[in-house]
Amino acid sequence: MSTTPILRLGGLGLGEGRSVISAALSAPEWEIGMICDLDEGLCRERCREFGEMPWTRNYAEMLGRDDIDVIAIYTPDPLHAPHMLQALEAGKHVICTKPLLDDLTPGPALLQAQRASGKRVMVGQSTRFVESMMRQRADFEAGRFGKLVSVEAKYIHDHRNYMNGKWGPELTKTMNWVYLGLSHPVDLVRWYLPEIEEVFAYGLLSPFAAKAGLQKADSLHAVLKSADGVIAQVTGIYGVPEHHPDRDALKTCTLRGTCGTSTSDYPQLRYSRNLDGHQPEWIAFPELNDYYYRFGGYMHHAGEFENYLRHFAQALARGESPQPDLEDGLRTVAVMKALERSVESGTPVRVAEILREYNVFCTYPTNDFTLDP
Ligand SMILES: NC(=O)c1ccc[n+]([C@@H]2O[C@H](COP(=O)([O-])OP(=O)(O)OC[C@H]3O[C@@H](n4cnc5c(N)ncnc54)[C@H](O)[C@@H]3O)[C@@H](O)[C@H]2O)c1
Repeated sequence: MSTTPILRLGGLGLGEGRSVISAALSAPEWEIGMICDLDEGLCRERCREFGEMPWTRNYAEMLGRDDIDVIAIYTPDPLHAPHMLQALEAGKHVICTKPLLDDLTPGPALLQAQRASGKRVMVGQSTRFVESMMRQRADFEAGRFGKLVSVEAKYIHDHRNYMNGKWGPELTKTMNWVYLGLSHPVDLVRWYLPEIEEVFAYGLLSPFAAKAGLQKADSLHAVLKSADGVIAQVTGIYGVPEHHPDRDALKTCTLRGTCGTSTSDYPQLRYSRNLDGHQPEWIAFPELNDYYYRFGGYMHHAGEFENYLRHFAQALARGESPQPDLEDGLRTVAVMKALERSVESGTPVRVAEILREYNVFCTYPTNDFTLDP
């Protein structure tokens, strides 16, 4: 039984934000205060789906409510910065979906607003919170892989639906898959290798993306080097059909260390590991399918959202910063900016130079992900 105080959530953006409503309704540490979307039909649809709750089309109205502690943001990527700034200025904690930002320019203003508010900001980096990835992390923390030599993460997903005007013509033009898609695998790499020093990447605009009006590459391969010399690889492809699910997962994270290798998969809840002195193993969690994918299919994976809501509340109760927090998130954005710059320049890019150029200086995280039963 949880003894953590109840937090009241204001949910902004009700597409993917559907998952955070479900998560807050079933997590013991949370209640819904209000939901908000410009689309009145969507507000009404979510009330039909989850039961009546206060809703508004006006973000300022939700921010003005004293009974809301945390704003959870699920609006299109370019709106995250202004929506976070407004929430912090209104004295709310913030959970922002990935990518935290699709550009590093608002970084210093966000750091300043957070420090002035004294509130917490967490990035809803959902993939860290899926069973397979959490199990792999637990093995890493127990030292089962020895010293890492390589981390490989990918997110390959047919996202032609996203490119086809979902966010309207203006936001489609600036849609940037370096952030929208690669935020998952780049975050996974930085979870294991926080200090990425240098990035080299190639990118391509797929014919579908070009026709849809996108201007930035939606097919990307990158190699990365961490300050301690460990190497990493990141891949994201979004404008073509993905593989048969029996053949390949949409997201994977592979760790190779001196004593063992493992791969965690998403959305399949499965994990393989091969450790020195043990038989190779496949570990699956079919009993958790209904928890993670409670709306049917793999659409809107609410279990991960419930895990991170609970982590947020529990970290707050301990007086800790929920991870990944704003500073850690900005370092991930800096790696993505370096990757984008490398695609443009055809040369390796050092992350420290990006942080300096954008005037973003932050510390490394001091505490790690935990989730009490
Ligand atoms: N794994 C994950 O955690 C995950 C998965 C998918 C999408 N996302 C992220 O979620 C965000 C939203 O993506 P989506 O697929 O739900 O898009 P979407 O277009 O379905 O939903 C966005 C919603 O925001 C609303 N909105 C926009 N501006 C608003 C404003 N000023 N006030 C109130 N509502 C406003 C829109 O009306 C829309 O309903 C993106 O940043 C995306 O990258 C995260």
